[in-house]
Amino acid sequence: MSNSKYEQLKKIKDEVVALINSPLYEYRVKNKNKPVIGQGDHNAKIMFVGEAPGKNEAETGVPFCGAAGRVLDELLASISLKRQEVYVTNIVKDRPPNNRDPSPQEIELYSPFLIRQVQIIKPAIIATLGRFSMDFVMKEFGLEKEMGKISTLHGKSFITSKEYGSMQVVPLYHPAVALYNASQKKTLLEDFQVLATIISFL
Ligand code: URA
Repeated sequence: MSNSKYEQLKKIKDEVVALINSPLYEYRVKNKNKPVIGQGDHNAKIMFVGEAPGKNEAETGVPFCGAAGRVLDELLASISLKRQEVYVTNIVKDRPPNNRDPSPQEIELYSPFLIRQVQIIKPAIIATLGRFSMDFVMKEFGLEKEMGKISTLHGKSFITSKEYGSMQVVPLYHPAVALYNASQKKTLLEDFQVLATIISFL
């Protein structure tokens, strides 16, 4: 790939903006929403992958800029990281109506953009936020055999084989769970400590 990372990521943005065959396209246009591509350091060692944009994200084009995003910032701060030092994105780049779960077809349509983002940014760690991104990332990057429930896999690290770039995949709960459940927040804080340890060995 000869183009700069910026240009390659810009191309993804242009393609998603023009994705008129998406079932979410009409809803985006009708609501004057924006697609949410991703934000952060194009050379980040760690990439966080959420599910799909919510209301605030679709209004601004910025991932995790609402209540769940404030939790994410707090979790990052707990291990002395700032948003600008990581890359944050989602599997699905447009907001599903009423924040419903993304459909399998939507995941299939948008996930090639995520795969390209991984190939461009080449993170050492992919931290998945929630079960949709955990399932997708583990399946896509050759970790089918390790797949299971998020309640079992959260806070563990799985190394992809060389052909998949020898990345570490760390499943985490979605930060939104911490908004309603203090014990889940404690778990997320503990899992971020695991992340900090993995980062310290990079
Ligand atoms: N939830 C997500 O999964 N992604 C966002 O960008 C915001 C909320």
